[in-house]
Amino acid sequence: MKTVTLSTLQAAKRAGEPFSCLTAYDASFAHAAEEAGIEVLLVGDSLGMVLQGHASTLPVTLDDICYHTRCVARGKRASLLMVDLPFMSNSSSERLLQDAGALMRAGAELVKVEGEAWMAHGIRELTRRGVPVCAHLGLTPQSVYQLGGYKVQGREAEQASRILEDARTLVEAGASVILLECVPASLGRAVSEALEVPVIGIGAGPDTDGQILVMHDVLGVTHGRTPRFVKNFMVEADDIPDAFRRYHSDVKARRFPAEGHCF
Ligand code: KIV
Repeated sequence: MKTVTLSTLQAAKRAGEPFSCLTAYDASFAHAAEEAGIEVLLVGDSLGMVLQGHASTLPVTLDDICYHTRCVARGKRASLLMVDLPFMSNSSSERLLQDAGALMRAGAELVKVEGEAWMAHGIRELTRRGVPVCAHLGLTPQSVYQLGGYKVQGREAEQASRILEDARTLVEAGASVILLECVPASLGRAVSEALEVPVIGIGAGPDTDGQILVMHDVLGVTHGRTPRFVKNFMVEADDIPDAFRRYHSDVKARRFPAEGHCF
């Protein structure tokens, strides 16, 4: 695979070619995902749940994320490495800049931050300093206690318009990518069509520019309730690399997500 950059994702969007993204937390799985053709790897703060066994992403520290970023960075060569800013990194501009700096030094090529239109200032500060940003909207897991659970966002027209407006504001502030989690497919399509930057979806329907899943969900090692948008690619695969290849080719062919994975 040729080195994936933000320009690669923008070109894919312009060409109407979907791209695949997957979480990764260590060198071996990062290597396997990249070999399968997956364009973007995310060191997600989901590591708090799938690796550390917490009930949410909130306990994950900057040191935890830096550690896993260094591991993934050693295992990958060409995929674009996106990394989550942990809970409360956005509590002040100073902290945001320092935390993003630590992630970039650890190997991040794009940082992801949760927050709505009010994050515009922070995103402007980051991009001014050369840090590319993905803004995560819709279901933002760091706000799970405020949201009252892992619930679909943007079902009502007013909330859907607010998410679309927030996305526009954050792109205007400098966000290079938008990630939309758990929203109706109609909103996923509307946001992707309205913006010039790539939109990555998870539970956001088939029409976003890219798709992302948590690696453990792709491999069927999820415990507890399985979200509707998840597909276990191990069911038909020979082995783990084959599951990654099947996920990648289903995204490329727009076979995933299917109607049953959408809201
Ligand atoms: O932390 C994570 O894995 C994420 C994905 C759910 C997109 O943010």
